[in-house]
Amino acid sequence: MKILICDGMHESGLSLLRGAEGIQVDAPEGLSAEEIKARLHEYDAMVVRSRTKVTADLLEAAARLKVIGRAGTGVDNIDVKAAIERGILVMNTPGANAMAAAEHTLALMFSLARHVPQACQSMREGRWEKKRFMGTELYHQTLGIIGLGRIGSLVADRAIGLKMDVLGYDPHILPEAAAILGVEAVSLEELLARSDFITLHTPSTPETRRIINRQTLAKTKPGVRILNCARGDLVDEEALYDALESGRVAGAALDVFNQEPPTGNPLLHLPNFISTPHLGASSFQAQANVARAIASQILDYLQAGIIRNAVNFPSISPKDYEKIRPYLVLAEKLGRLQGQIASPIQRLEIEYSGSELQEVGLEPLTQTVIKGLLDPILAEKVNLVNAPLLLKERQIDLVASTTSESRGYTGKITVKAKGKQGEWSMAGTVFSGDEIRLVHLNNYRLEAELEGINLLIQNRDKPGTIGFIGTTLGRHQVNIANMHLSRTPDRESAIAIIRIDEEAPPAALDELRSHPNIISVQQVKL
Ligand code: NAD
Ligand code: MLT
Repeated sequence: MKILICDGMHESGLSLLRGAEGIQVDAPEGLSAEEIKARLHEYDAMVVRSRTKVTADLLEAAARLKVIGRAGTGVDNIDVKAAIERGILVMNTPGANAMAAAEHTLALMFSLARHVPQACQSMREGRWEKKRFMGTELYHQTLGIIGLGRIGSLVADRAIGLKMDVLGYDPHILPEAAAILGVEAVSLEELLARSDFITLHTPSTPETRRIINRQTLAKTKPGVRILNCARGDLVDEEALYDALESGRVAGAALDVFNQEPPTGNPLLHLPNFISTPHLGASSFQAQANVARAIASQILDYLQAGIIRNAVNFPSISPKDYEKIRPYLVLAEKLGRLQGQIASPIQRLEIEYSGSELQEVGLEPLTQTVIKGLLDPILAEKVNLVNAPLLLKERQIDLVASTTSESRGYTGKITVKAKGKQGEWSMAGTVFSGDEIRLVHLNNYRLEAELEGINLLIQNRDKPGTIGFIGTTLGRHQVNIANMHLSRTPDRESAIAIIRIDEEAPPAALDELRSHPNIISVQQVKL
C-alpha cells in the first residue's frame, strides 16, 4: 500500500510508516495541487498538514484513496463532505499539538502585555525607548477564555498558575466542569464585559465564526487585549482593526487569519497589533507528536481496520475493537443477507442485545450493517464512511437500539428490514469467540453459518420436498456443502438454508420454484 506525505512529516512518523510491512511511503517536497492531483490515483492514503487543500476537485483523482490523515487538529483545509461521498476516511490528531498551541497563546499574551515584539523591533532600529513600552502585569488581571476544550483548559490551568482570574464561556461545558478547572463559567456577555484579556479556543462553526465582531467588541471592557490562536474566521478583522485604531482594544495578537498568509492585511501595520504566521503547533514536540499519532492511526486503519480519531466515522478504541471484532463480521453478513432478500427496503431496524454489546460504541456495527446491506445492490463503491449517506439518499429510515434482554446470548444482533414486500427479521450471534451463526430468520430458529453461496428455500413441510431439492441441484451439477433446516412450530412451513459450492444456474432455480411445495427460492452470496 502506498502513502503520500504532502506537507512534510517529522521523522518520528516517517520512520514508523517506513518500518511498516507492505507500506511504501513517498514524501516529495512542496508538491503543487496539480502535481498532487496527477499522482493521487496511485495512493491508498495521504497525509497533510494545513498547506495542502484537499478539495473536491483534487479528490476526483483519488481512485483508491482510503484515508486522509491530517497531522494536526483543524480539518478546514479538507473537503470532508467530498471525502464522505467518495467513502474516504478523514482522521486528525486532536490534542497532539494542544500543549504547543496553549504555550504559544501564553507567549503571545506575555508579548502583548509587555510589548516584547515592538520593543525588540525598536532596538533593532537603534532606539532605546523605555517609556514607550510601558506594559501591564498579568497578575490579578482577568482572562476570559472562549472555548474550554483541550487547549482552552491548558491555557486556563497555566493562567491560574500566574494568579490570573479566569472566566470561561463554553455552552457545551457544565459550570461544574469549569469549576474543577478553577474557571468561573459565565455568559459571553459577562466574559466580554469583565475580561482584561480575551483568548479564543473554539473550532470554526456557524456559531463561533466572527464571534469577535463589531457588536461583541462594543461590549468589551475598554482597553481589553484580544488573542486568537484557534481559527482565523473567529474574528471580524475589519471590526478588530477599527477597535485597535480607536484604542477601545489596547492590543491584539493573532496567530491565525481570515486569509493565510495575510498578504496586504492592514492589521499588520498597526503598532498595537502583533502576529505570528500560524505557529501554534510549531514546536518540535508537537510535530513529533502529531506525526507519530497520524502515522500509527493510518497504519492501524490500513493494516487492521481500526479507526481512531476519524472526523467522518465514529472512533473505536483498540480495546472495544477487540470486543466487537467478530460482531463486525456478523453485522456485515446480516446486512448482506438483508440487502439480497428484502430489497427494496423502506425502514431498517437494528437491535443489539447481550452483555458483550453493552458499554461499547455500537455506531461502527450499525455502519457495518448498512455497508453490508447496500454493497450487493449498489454499483458504486460502498464502504463504512459513505454507507450512512447512501442509506439516507435512498430514503431508508434507520432505527438502532439496544436492549438488555439477551435470551441466553452473550451478544446478538437483530436486523429487521421493512419494505413493500413485507418484513424480514433475522438475528445472528457469535459462538466461542468467532463462530458466526444465523440463529433466527423470521419465525424459524436456526444455527446456520453465514458463509459463501447459499440458497434460501421456503417450502411447505411435506415429505419428499428436501429430496426433490437435492436431486434437482445434483442434476444441475450443483454440489451441496451443508444444509440447515428449520420449520415453524405448527409445521405449516419450513426453511432450508443450503450452502452450495458453486452458483446455481437460473434453470435450476426455476425448476426448484416450479415444485408445488416450494414457496420461494433465493440465492444469496455472503
Ligand atoms: P477542542 O475541541 O478540544 O475544544 C473546543 C472547545 O470549544 C470545546 O470545549 C467546545 O465545547 C467549545 N465550543 C464549541 N462551540 C462553542 C461556542 N459557540 N462558544 C464557546 N465554546 C464553544 O479543540 P482544541 O483542540 O482545544 O482546539 C481549539 C482550536 O484551536 C481549534 O480551532 C483548533 O483547530 C485550533 N488549533 C490551532 C492551532 C494553531 O496552530 N494555531 C493548533 C492546534 C489547534
Ligand atoms: C491545527 O489545527 O492543528 C493547527 O492549526 C496547526 C496546523 O495547522 O498544523
